Amino acid sequence: MPTTFIHGGTVVSPTGSQLLDVLVSDGTIVAVLQPGSTALAADLTSSADTAIDATGKYVIPGGVDGHTHMEMPFGGTFASDTFETGTRAAAWGGTTTIVDFAVQNPGMRVQDTVAAWHDKAAGNCAIDYGFHQIMGGVDADSLKGMAELVNEGITSFKLFMAYPGVFYSTDSQILRAMQEAAELGALLMMHAENGIAIDVLVEQALARGDTAPYFHGTSRAWQLEEEATHRAIMLAQLTGAPLYIVHVSAKQALAQIAQARGEGQNVFGETCPQYLYLSLEEQLGAPGFDGAKWVCSTPLRSREEGHQDELWRYIRTGDVATVATDHCPFCMKGQKDMGIGNFANIPNGIGSVEHRMDLMFQGVKDGRISRERWVDVCATTPAKMFGMYPRKGIISPGADADIVIYDPNGHNSIGLEKTHHMNLDYSAYEGYEIDGHVDTVLSKGSVIIDQGAYLGTKGHGSFVKRGLSQNLI
Ligand code: URP
Ligand code: ZN
Ligand code: ZN
Repeated sequence: MPTTFIHGGTVVSPTGSQLLDVLVSDGTIVAVLQPGSTALAADLTSSADTAIDATGKYVIPGGVDGHTHMEMPFGGTFASDTFETGTRAAAWGGTTTIVDFAVQNPGMRVQDTVAAWHDKAAGNCAIDYGFHQIMGGVDADSLKGMAELVNEGITSFKLFMAYPGVFYSTDSQILRAMQEAAELGALLMMHAENGIAIDVLVEQALARGDTAPYFHGTSRAWQLEEEATHRAIMLAQLTGAPLYIVHVSAKQALAQIAQARGEGQNVFGETCPQYLYLSLEEQLGAPGFDGAKWVCSTPLRSREEGHQDELWRYIRTGDVATVATDHCPFCMKGQKDMGIGNFANIPNGIGSVEHRMDLMFQGVKDGRISRERWVDVCATTPAKMFGMYPRKGIISPGADADIVIYDPNGHNSIGLEKTHHMNLDYSAYEGYEIDGHVDTVLSKGSVIIDQGAYLGTKGHGSFVKRGLSQNLI
């Protein structure tokens, strides 16, 4: 049984940070030791198969990105990262588990779409992965299928209040799916934007000749995110379904979530680094067609209106429970450029699965959040939220040895298309510099990233059969 001994580092968890040594055997954390407290530690430094000196570094649980879309079919094309390229890029950035979305459209059986996603992922991933189920066609058959999926470890279901004619669910479909989720104890995930109203604003913008990417943002107004969020919360309250609102970008939507949480409802907010750092004015409003790089939904919000600062605050209060990437990359050439002359034809999505841990650590450096909250929103709470704790998301005996050794005094230039590992022909974070660095990454005890070298293998990652959410109030 191969052993690894990580010594001298500061183990960071949501409850605190402590100088601790970590012993790994056969892919699992078997002990967390007070340095020098036993003769064992001195022994292990010389006798372990691998000894890693983490002096001056943070030892954190591998990141859990609860929202990715590898190879997602969208707008007549597919997200440009495969499970192979996307999970390798995730590993480079210190993420060791992703939860991706199997996609069901009307008329498809959810069981078949899960089988298709298993086929795409199996044997291709560098890190572990699980699946959520997108239900784009809520009907008697898909509702019945939910129970089967829960038994197979797919315990969360995403519905859309946006994208009429594609993924959109009516209120009656939402109500039925929530009733089923409540019955099963499954998590109902919601893309909360009023798509019917958005489509009118899109049509009016195009009729006025406002065809540039900027108008993607203005036609998806915050009022339509707030309204949909409120409606989803009310329907969840009525049915008793636990509700997880994905990719929240409007401060008003978060105020709705905070209010519901204050009243004790099982409602959780997810945001993404793009909503914390990027804006309607600077990115979507970039000259020419450049803003297409940042077309995603919900959209980037106005910095003048103060959404970014409020989102950071809601991370501190806990009303933002998790930070995921919503990694859904499309290249400018051959994909985003389908929308030249009509922003509505730009495939929606941003790629950043490689940068989430770094971008959120920058929040620690900038005094936005504590290092403990960094670990919490990026690893521990996503693991709990999606039924993988304590196997994932914590440095603790019995957990999978998914470990990142992070240098808080390191440096990473994340904004270079030439050096990132995602299959994406631009960087959404051009020019961004990070005051920290992912030094070493272990996945199930194997070192897969070490000081700038990729040592992982395709097929090392395996499917995680998830339980029900462990994060309910
Ligand atoms: O723009 C986005 N978010 N693309 C991915 C699909 C989704 O709605 O999550
Ligand atoms: Zn969505
Ligand atoms: Zn998404």
